[in-house]
Amino acid sequence: CGIVGYVGSGNATNFLIDGLRRLEYRGYDSAGIAVYENGKINIEKKQGRLVNLENELKKHPLQGHIGIGHTRWATHGKPSDRNAHPHGDCHNHFVVVHNGIIENYLTLKKDLMEKGHVFKSETDTEVVAHLLEELDDGNFLSTVRKMLSIIEGSYSLVIMDSSYPDTIICTKKNNPLIIGLGKGENFIASDIPAVINHTRDIYILDDEEVAVVKADQVSILDRDGKPVKKEIQKVTWSAEAAEKGGYPHFMLKEIFEQPKAVRDTVQIHLNKDGSVTFPDLGWTKECFENIDNILITACGTAYHAGLVAKHYIERFVKIPVSVEIASEYRYSKPLTTNRTLCIVVSQSGETIDTLEALKEAKKHGAKSLAVTNSIGSSIAREADHVVYTLAGPEIAVASTKAYTTQLVALLMLALYMAQLRGTISMDLIHKITDGLKDLPKQIEKVLKEKDHMAEVADRLIKAHDIFYLGRSIDYAIAMEGALKLKEVSYIHAESYAAGELKHGTLALITADTPVIAVATQDAVSSKMYSNIQEVKARGAEVLGIGYEDDKELGKYTTETVRIPRVDFFIAPILSVIPMQLLAYYTSVKRGNDVDKPRNLAKSVTVE
Ligand code: G6P
Repeated sequence: CGIVGYVGSGNATNFLIDGLRRLEYRGYDSAGIAVYENGKINIEKKQGRLVNLENELKKHPLQGHIGIGHTRWATHGKPSDRNAHPHGDCHNHFVVVHNGIIENYLTLKKDLMEKGHVFKSETDTEVVAHLLEELDDGNFLSTVRKMLSIIEGSYSLVIMDSSYPDTIICTKKNNPLIIGLGKGENFIASDIPAVINHTRDIYILDDEEVAVVKADQVSILDRDGKPVKKEIQKVTWSAEAAEKGGYPHFMLKEIFEQPKAVRDTVQIHLNKDGSVTFPDLGWTKECFENIDNILITACGTAYHAGLVAKHYIERFVKIPVSVEIASEYRYSKPLTTNRTLCIVVSQSGETIDTLEALKEAKKHGAKSLAVTNSIGSSIAREADHVVYTLAGPEIAVASTKAYTTQLVALLMLALYMAQLRGTISMDLIHKITDGLKDLPKQIEKVLKEKDHMAEVADRLIKAHDIFYLGRSIDYAIAMEGALKLKEVSYIHAESYAAGELKHGTLALITADTPVIAVATQDAVSSKMYSNIQEVKARGAEVLGIGYEDDKELGKYTTETVRIPRVDFFIAPILSVIPMQLLAYYTSVKRGNDVDKPRNLAKSVTVE
């Protein structure tokens, strides 16, 4: 999760530990460093907090002038000393730290094992070190370039070669990496806070560039090996602003991280032929012969993701789904049996109500699967199977990128189950997976609505009550939109199935109750237009959220925010984004602590 590197005349260990500490706020489960000393590269790494590594270093100090370091947030392989980075080949000739995912690592690992390489960890990263050893032609740079032509996936990689004790080579693709320029020393980091105390002159690497970093020289090559003339960027941020990547708050930063979080989560479950894969589950068509109902249970935002998943699973997999709030489920007298598949959804993997609901379902004989963002968490350990969202650490209390990656993971899981059961055509699978491949770009387009949503927020800050309406999947999304607003703005917000409004709640609609209306589900859009007219007729201002080519919607709303035309199963992942932005700006404009709203905690581990 955090990467650092140092080459110069100073004590490498000091910078590496200090740099990792400055990246600590991002969260991690283990830490390690590698330093060149006495003709070889030595590694120390430990599970847990940085202090564990520091204690280890007191026993076995690493003294040298060149080194790399890493704090890990597990993606492949549980948190442990062995899985912590750095990783070396059989002889620690090449040593690497890595963020991202090497997608073809299983194939590469198999080939390398056949050639006699012995692996020490379960990580995808270790493959890179062994591959470098296998390809070694005596020239560090050309070996790295050969390796890059073979690996697939996303990465920021920082590499040492014990035959080149004055050089670090680093590169990146869809993961950040910067180089801090010092006098007679240079620094490498995944993020600016790590270097800000040493230098404010930095290079920001672009995708597939390769940097050769020495104490007094940094040369950068493009993917074809041609030298690149890079401009030095001056960092003017304070250390605190740097932690947030220049964003004023973590919530906004995390909203803007959604293209990457979604891309990472889609990538690991997609085959080249457009089909969906969850190899770790080991499921077959026969597994479903013993399942006749699915229970989804979760809390808060994760529960809202479950409500969307019900639509996906019932539509594609044709098995009935019930979605229960975890704290309700665990004290109900559930009809769960050994023919139930229980899916729990939890960003943190530690929410006590969700964990207990999972145990309750298992007690009744249910098979279980957890969708979580946290490897090795209590929920991940308790469930029979786990699917990980690759949102990366989420720091703001109000969940944003974890939610959208939950939607992606659950949509892909539903497609996978349907693919196994043969309840959906391959054409539809391809149509949706094509849409998912494009989704990061579409999210970027929707994020351009930022200033528009800030303007709308100006009009909402005085409201006492705001209603969120939708039908079908849009209703589930409206629930999340309303929760986001309540959590951070402290304005009372309520979501309604638009068709239910007339059965009571319409009495509350006046000129003082703004309405947010989500309209992306084509099958019910004409019904939605009628509901919008009903609230407008009672004086409410209506913000519509719909497709850019929807000519009708704008006729009935006061104002409209547009999302690109995508498949209506994917639309929810886009339509929630304007609502996240709206909640964010409403909160900030009301002067609230948006990252830490009053009375709320990120992870609720007490009942
Ligand atoms: C807390 C957080 C919410 C979150 C819920 C479930 O209430 O404030 O943002 O949705 O817990 O958390 P989980 O980690 O299980 O997804």
